[in-house]
Amino acid sequence: RKKIGIITSGGDAPGMNSAVRAVVRAAIHKGCDAFAIYEGYEGLVQGGHMMKQMKWEDVRGWLSEGGTLIGTARCAAFRERWGRLKAAKNMIVNGIDALIVCGGDGSLTGADLFRAEWPDLLKELVDTNELTPSQIEGYEHLTIVGLVGSIDNDMSSTDATIGAYSSLSRICQSVDFIDATAYSHSRAFVVEVMGRHCGWLALMAGIATGADYVFIPEQPPSATGWGDEICSVVSAHRKKGKRKTVVIVCEGAIDSDLNPISAVDVKDLLVDRLGLDTRITTLGHVQRGGSAVAFDRLISTLQGYEAVEAVLDSTPETPSPMIGIHENKLVRTPLVDAVALTKQVATAIKARDFNRAMSLRDAEFAE
Ligand code: F6P
Repeated sequence: RKKIGIITSGGDAPGMNSAVRAVVRAAIHKGCDAFAIYEGYEGLVQGGHMMKQMKWEDVRGWLSEGGTLIGTARCAAFRERWGRLKAAKNMIVNGIDALIVCGGDGSLTGADLFRAEWPDLLKELVDTNELTPSQIEGYEHLTIVGLVGSIDNDMSSTDATIGAYSSLSRICQSVDFIDATAYSHSRAFVVEVMGRHCGWLALMAGIATGADYVFIPEQPPSATGWGDEICSVVSAHRKKGKRKTVVIVCEGAIDSDLNPISAVDVKDLLVDRLGLDTRITTLGHVQRGGSAVAFDRLISTLQGYEAVEAVLDSTPETPSPMIGIHENKLVRTPLVDAVALTKQVATAIKARDFNRAMSLRDAEFAE
């Protein structure tokens, strides 16, 4: 009987609860035991009461709840080998032989490292008498399955991360609200959105709200010319009779010399050069909270079920999969490949090699 642990890790994302619900119920439906690991990897490191067997009714009503009800953390201990040793021991002591991790890029990288180190960790636990050889029997192979939960939509090998569309929807709703007050006063608003080094939320929100200008890290404007460019775009719009100006700035926006571009930089420019009455709105964690939109509920439920199937399909020979969605179909990609590709894309973007970043993105689902 498989004992499957489910963890939510990293920044919370709408849809994580529906993913946990789907995993718990699919596991029970398929004759396995499901364990919620509380507070992300911290729960694995601490063990004990942080690991709780879940019953069918424990996740009742979770489909529409925002955040993550089993908690999450950015766990420093799990980044250290001693933390992963404790985590491995706690899993074995509790009989947990498979882990489904719902988190972003960093959390899945951690999961991949844990999987790769697993045999070594077991050896060390036996060598240091933390566990006996008979205790580790049957645990030689750790099954890990990744679900991508993050508002940033910054993971390769999936078209959409769980939570990204809910966050996008909240950003659009907020910009619509801002539009009304901007129009009334004929003001400019600089809206800073999350996404870390990924401009997906900013770009999509810009398109969906008809923003005047968008700053994203993937397309840094000229360090010496961006001020002129945005001013000419905004004044052209104003000359056409537009009463409001909305500029969306991704929190990780940079210029071509890799200097950060902040909402304050943009505001100062609009005030000093164009004389616009300008305000800044930092949407902050509003864009991460609240209940998930239908799309996120749907993909997290389907992917949660798929993750349990992937656990049951797993053999020592098969690589740990990450469940994604591509062209509306569920896909399984080796977690190690998805993590590596995500890093390569990020490195190419950092080096401003956008052609390489694009070709890596294009190649990610190639046969
Ligand atoms: O990764 C999700 C995210 O919301 C990013 O967009 C943002 O940069 C970061 O997390 C904020 O992290 P925290 O909530 O720990 O401040």
